[in-house]
Amino acid sequence: MNILLLGSGGREDALAWALRQSPSCNHLIAAPGNPGIARWAECLAIDPSDPAKVVALARERNVGLVVVGPEAPLVAGVADACSEAGIPVFGPSAAAAMLEGSKGFTKDLCLAEGIPTARYVRTDDLETANASLDEFGLPVVVKADGLAAGKGVTIAMTRAEAEAAVRAANGGPLVIEQFLEGEEASLFALVHGEQAVALASAQDHKRVGEGDTGPNTGGMGAYSPAPVLTPELERRAMEEIVLPTARAMVRAGTPFVGVLYAGLMLTDEGPKLIEYNVRFGDPECEAIMPRLKGDVAQLLLAVAEGRMDAVRPELSAEHSMTVILAAGGYPGTPRKGGTIDGIEAAERVPGVTVFHAGTARHGSGALLAAGGRVLAVTAVGPSLAEARARAYQAVDAIDFADGFHRRDIGWRELERSA
Ligand code: AMP
Ligand code: GLY
Repeated sequence: MNILLLGSGGREDALAWALRQSPSCNHLIAAPGNPGIARWAECLAIDPSDPAKVVALARERNVGLVVVGPEAPLVAGVADACSEAGIPVFGPSAAAAMLEGSKGFTKDLCLAEGIPTARYVRTDDLETANASLDEFGLPVVVKADGLAAGKGVTIAMTRAEAEAAVRAANGGPLVIEQFLEGEEASLFALVHGEQAVALASAQDHKRVGEGDTGPNTGGMGAYSPAPVLTPELERRAMEEIVLPTARAMVRAGTPFVGVLYAGLMLTDEGPKLIEYNVRFGDPECEAIMPRLKGDVAQLLLAVAEGRMDAVRPELSAEHSMTVILAAGGYPGTPRKGGTIDGIEAAERVPGVTVFHAGTARHGSGALLAAGGRVLAVTAVGPSLAEARARAYQAVDAIDFADGFHRRDIGWRELERSA
């Protein structure tokens, strides 16, 4: 079949790489893609968030599966438009994408279904907000409702910080919640309607600086699996969190289809939901795809079509690590135009693939930085320590003078396993 992949980041490069290797994939098209994706797909400059344009392209090219990478096209109703046109699509409807689009929606669903999550208050009223700060004590978590690319969350250590975060919302909708203690891990589940199958676990590093310090980013690195999410905890997360969510979405008339990314806090009482995303994580996807065996296109098509009996993802026992090379200035204003060299040398390190997250090809053929996160250097190995060694050997082979990266991806797990 012909496949249309939507998006232009490192996550989509990893998806394109996996789809290209699928025996069932005939022609692979990406909209808009990037110079890395162009290694595996025909890239077309079409707005991935324009439902009519996506459907027209899919029809014209006889596409048998649309795979949606980022959340924006989902929230814009691209999956709805594909479904209405009878084109199988991997990704939820706009209504089901509310699980990511509105934190308040997800919190209310958790409360109604008894799904373990932090206690919370949802309000746009200053007085109610300040009263709930009293209730939760410190630290307290203040979140702007709506898509905020991970930037709308304040973990307030003092009352003054909490009040400032409330004021910063300017009367907009807020979720104020109890601070959960524990270690975070992510669980990716393939879902169609009431049925859900665990795919993989991962952990990412959201802070820009080593030791997990400094401002939040989209993610500076990731690894998979996350052994802290033991098989028993994963089973509990599926039974207590993911499956009740899937059933509630069906009952609401908005069934979920695609990958549900559960951000979990592993607390003393068990896994609790921090947030949902309705798509693969970035850079978690770059770490997961190289572990996924078999025909990935068939796997995603089976999810899209609701043939969940055929959804038996098989992951290699190997560990993988992704290290992000970011442009100077990120996560503020990244400097564009820095030259990148040495990707071929990096990919000669065994087990290494370099995914493009934010690159552009200059007319001369030179590869330039064109985004905050620029490259996602990924390695697999028999252990996390081995994957780490390979990933950093590859990072060191890359010449990107204007970039920076963290040297300590995976530190928690590496300390534990040492
Ligand atoms: P979110 O956008 O909801 O994922 O929040 C961003 C980050 O804030 C999460 O990855 C956590 O590190 C942290 N966080 C969010 N909610 C809580 C909570 N209730 N307790 C502790 N940390 C939280
Ligand atoms: N790495 C976090 C995310 O994709 O939301």
